[in-house]
Amino acid sequence: MRSPESLDLSNNQLSGEIPEHLVEGCISLAFLVLSNNSLQGQIFSKNFSLPNLLRLQLDGNHYIGNIPNSLLNSSLLVGLYLSDNHPSGRIPSWLGNMSDLSDIIMPNNNFEGPIPVEFCQLEYLEVLDLSENIISSDFPSCLNSPYIQQVHLSRNKLQGQLKEAFYSSSYLKILDFSYNHLDGSTPKWIGRLSQLSYLILSNNNFDGEMPIQLCLLDQLRLIDLSRNNLSGHIPPCLDMTALHDKDYDVAPGLAVSVGLAGPSMRKGETIEFTTKSISYSYKGRILNYLSGIDLSCNKLTGEIPHQVGNLTMIHSLNLSHNELSGPIPPSFSYLRQIESLDLSYNYLLSYTIWLFSVWPI
Ligand SMILES: *[C@@H]1O[C@H](CO)[C@@H](O)[C@H](O)[C@H]1NC(C)=O
Ligand SMILES: *[C@@H]1O[C@H](CO)[C@@H](O)[C@H](O)[C@H]1NC(C)=O
Ligand SMILES: *[C@@H]1O[C@H](CO)[C@@H](O)[C@H](O)[C@H]1NC(C)=O
Ligand SMILES: *[C@@H]1O[C@H](CO)[C@@H](O)[C@H](O)[C@H]1NC(C)=O
Ligand SMILES: *[C@@H]1O[C@H](CO)[C@@H](O)[C@H](O)[C@H]1NC(C)=O
Repeated sequence: MRSPESLDLSNNQLSGEIPEHLVEGCISLAFLVLSNNSLQGQIFSKNFSLPNLLRLQLDGNHYIGNIPNSLLNSSLLVGLYLSDNHPSGRIPSWLGNMSDLSDIIMPNNNFEGPIPVEFCQLEYLEVLDLSENIISSDFPSCLNSPYIQQVHLSRNKLQGQLKEAFYSSSYLKILDFSYNHLDGSTPKWIGRLSQLSYLILSNNNFDGEMPIQLCLLDQLRLIDLSRNNLSGHIPPCLDMTALHDKDYDVAPGLAVSVGLAGPSMRKGETIEFTTKSISYSYKGRILNYLSGIDLSCNKLTGEIPHQVGNLTMIHSLNLSHNELSGPIPPSFSYLRQIESLDLSYNYLLSYTIWLFSVWPI
């Protein structure tokens, strides 16, 4: 089969290994999609060679082993989709040599060890999703791809501080480091990420104050810093004015814009957020309808700034399990989109009682 550009056998009940000869000599093949079958064994043989491959989608199978370096023969590769399999071992550092890679989507596997520093060479990287693996060690501070839009690393074992990273990543929209072991102060450099919309750092060991630099980010739609060890006051200057834009697009990918879409493109990475006491997963366009702030389970003190009431478009606000005091600001009556509001487990006073305690009669 010298001519086909696309081979899609996804969503069937194929089992066993990929036959050695299936794609032999398919020199034109750009899209190989075998997602959602029951394929197993090693990802492919050592002799695998598809020089024009742009996208390899093997998600939703039972592959084991590691990614074979015969993939280096596919030097034009743009998208690698391996989610929901069982590959293990370290993430190969030579992936950093595949200079056109824009999507590395490998959540829910058993990859371990660090994120290779060689990933810092990936100049066109747009989406990095390694959530639900066993990635450990520090996040490489050199990661700095100018086009990166989404970073999903939740549910791993990352540790240490989030040092300077994403220095020139001005398109970053989603940053999700939840459920790791990160510590130290929350990064001040996030103030530079002017397009950041979803900031999820929950379930780590961050301490110190909430970064005032959050106030520089006027595209924010979701801030989840819950279950850390943050102290100090809630910054009064949070700004979520972008929520007024109706037609917001989470992340139109480069591959789409240059017409490489091919069959069933997957850019819809998932984020998790708790509202109305239930943790939901959101992806794709639904993200447009999600907005909120979760600062629960920290050690925040002081009063709730009345300016929080100016965030009139948020759907969910959770400040529970902190040490907040003073009244509930009357400006909360402006939160006309609110669907879930939790202020429990603080030292708040009802407004009337507070008035009496200040001006006793
Ligand atoms: C594989 O299945 C998942 C979950 O059912 C679905 O979201 C995804 O689009 C499927 N992949 C393909 C290529 O059809
Ligand atoms: C990857 O690129 C580096 C140079 O950046 C080179 O030294 C190394 O041999 C390359 N690795 C492979 C497997 O091609
Ligand atoms: C939280 O921070 C306090 C200091 O503010 C420190 O004493 C405590 O050990 C920290 N707790 C955790 C679990 O890191
Ligand atoms: C607020 O956060 C706490 C702790 O994270 C959680 O248990 C509770 O369900 C949340 N409240 C709502 C209404 O989602
Ligand atoms: C916030 O709302 C108050 C009224 O409660 C208003 O006076 C103030 O100008 C608003 N501030 C901003 C930054 O919108």
